[in-house]
Amino acid sequence: MPGRYVGYKLVAGTSNPRLCQAIAEYLRQPLCRWTTKKFTDGEIFVQSEENLRGADVFVIQPTGPPVNDNLMELLIIIDALKRASAERITAVVPYYGYARQEKKDAAREPITARLVADMIEVAGAHRLVTIDLHAGAIQGFFSIPSDHLTALSMVADYFRSCDLTESIVVAPDTGRAKAAEKLANLLDLPMAVLHKHRPRHQVAEVTHIAGELKGLRPIIFEDIVSTGGTLVAGIDALLANGAQPDIRIAVTHPLLTGNALERLTRPEVSELVVTDTVPLREGANIEKIKVLSVAPLLAEAIRRIHHGESVSALFEPKPSMY
Ligand code: R5P
Repeated sequence: MPGRYVGYKLVAGTSNPRLCQAIAEYLRQPLCRWTTKKFTDGEIFVQSEENLRGADVFVIQPTGPPVNDNLMELLIIIDALKRASAERITAVVPYYGYARQEKKDAAREPITARLVADMIEVAGAHRLVTIDLHAGAIQGFFSIPSDHLTALSMVADYFRSCDLTESIVVAPDTGRAKAAEKLANLLDLPMAVLHKHRPRHQVAEVTHIAGELKGLRPIIFEDIVSTGGTLVAGIDALLANGAQPDIRIAVTHPLLTGNALERLTRPEVSELVVTDTVPLREGANIEKIKVLSVAPLLAEAIRRIHHGESVSALFEPKPSMY
């Protein structure tokens, strides 16, 4: 397989430079020399400073906030790679923006996650690598191959090193129940599920709880924290139902928009564990935040894809694969 290509190249978009650098270091492969400019009207310009003809190229660009700029930059990079005669283009999109618009919940709504998939394909990507999609079914929006990785193993490994007495894994809504169940099984803990209702966009309420929380220390396992509304509603419901004021939260994609961080900085929250799929916003490096890096996971996926090796071992929640 690698013989088909003139080596492989790593192209870094501008949305998460630290993650790109960490992946490059893990792979001992320099990032492609690359120019990105933003014109005064907001248009983005990119150009490779290296020959890419025949190369197996991996473009790393999570599409977190500002989602539209980062998405557009990803599409423009893919177009540039295609026109530079790259042999294969893999879009490495650790956080897939618009994933929460993956179905019509009401009349006359768009399915923007599908539109984004179409745009990535039309731009010229041959495959997608992503982590903890809001809905796994988004893989089906692509006709190109996709590798859907998960941060579950690293989250489980982290909590195994913590005090888990009287702990319980909590899904903040029914959509996360499966993921929370997997974490609970890995940690050998009980679980509970919160039932969330959204009376309107970006407002969350917990209507009821499945599971017993009295006297237990919750570990909430979430895919995305944006406004923090879901977590705040969850924390209030857990406390009202007798949970200990010692709540740990693990989130794969810490978008932390607006005043989300301030909303979560409360004495009952003892720790916020996140990954670096998106950069933490300026000033968010507070004591209670623990950042787990997905760089080794992504780097290993890139290495295996380039060498035509199986990536599925990385999907399984087994530690020490990378
Ligand atoms: C939605 O169902 C997701 O899993 C998250 O719960 C949600 O997107 C978090 O958003 P926010 O922090 O704005 O409540």
